[in-house]
Amino acid sequence: MRLRPVIVYGAGGHAKVVIDILEVAGQHTILGLIDDDPYKIGTFFCGYKVLGDMRTLQDWQADPPAIILAIGDNHIRSRLAGRLTRFPFTTAVHPTATVARKVSVGEGTVMMAHAVINPGAVIGNHVIVNTGAIVDHDCIIGDFVHLSPGVKLGGHVTIGSKAHVGIGATVINDVSIGAGSIIGAGAAVVEDVPDGVLAIGVPAGVIKRVEPIP
Ligand SMILES: CC(C)(COP(=O)(O)OP(=O)(O)OC[C@H]1O[C@@H](n2cnc3c(N)ncnc32)[C@H](O)[C@@H]1OP(=O)(O)O)[C@@H](O)C(=O)NCCC(=O)NCCS
Repeated sequence: MRLRPVIVYGAGGHAKVVIDILEVAGQHTILGLIDDDPYKIGTFFCGYKVLGDMRTLQDWQADPPAIILAIGDNHIRSRLAGRLTRFPFTTAVHPTATVARKVSVGEGTVMMAHAVINPGAVIGNHVIVNTGAIVDHDCIIGDFVHLSPGVKLGGHVTIGSKAHVGIGATVINDVSIGAGSIIGAGAAVVEDVPDGVLAIGVPAGVIKRVEPIP
């Protein structure tokens, strides 16, 4: 099988996990990394060279390689995707992730070890389904969402773009979480959460608005 060349954007903790997924999935060859921290350029991370920053990609002359945005912050991933429109984005799915057949997965999305996606789910672009997160049937997950490790979503849950659901949070069936909202670690969401707010606790309650509001 011909391996597909990919560049990983990001050289931090989240990228470490994405690189491991790409290596164990065995479908890509990693050409190198990109990071906007000038001190990282030219260094090695997980055995791969940090080739440069955003400008390095924008000046790229050869055939554009696939890119994967390996940055945990939803808003930064969104901004970067908007600036890299001439590059194809690839997905990274850990071999232990269980993805049902009738599932739609957008470009640039990452599914970590032991994630489970059940039938009818629609997963947007550049989503992070972190380690052990469960997305039950018919959920709709917007672009640039992050479902943290151990999150559990019941059936027919809708998550708006760029929302972040914290570690171990649970969302009961048929509930929707608004764009850009943050759900605190360990929360139990039992009713709809509007756009652009922080909700915490069991049951989850809104405690404040968050910036930037999408
Ligand atoms: C909810 C959260 C976003 C709040 O962050 P913050 O705005 O910086 O809030 P603070 O840490 O200043 O805490 C404010 C108060 O909320 C409480 N609090 C914080 N997180 C809480 C949570 N998840 N559930 C209940 N209470 C929480 C704090 O104890 C503190 O209480 P106090 O005012 O009585 O002292 C954060 O704590 C959280 O849960 N983040 C999720 C992180 C995550 O899942 N990361 C995944 C990486 S892969």
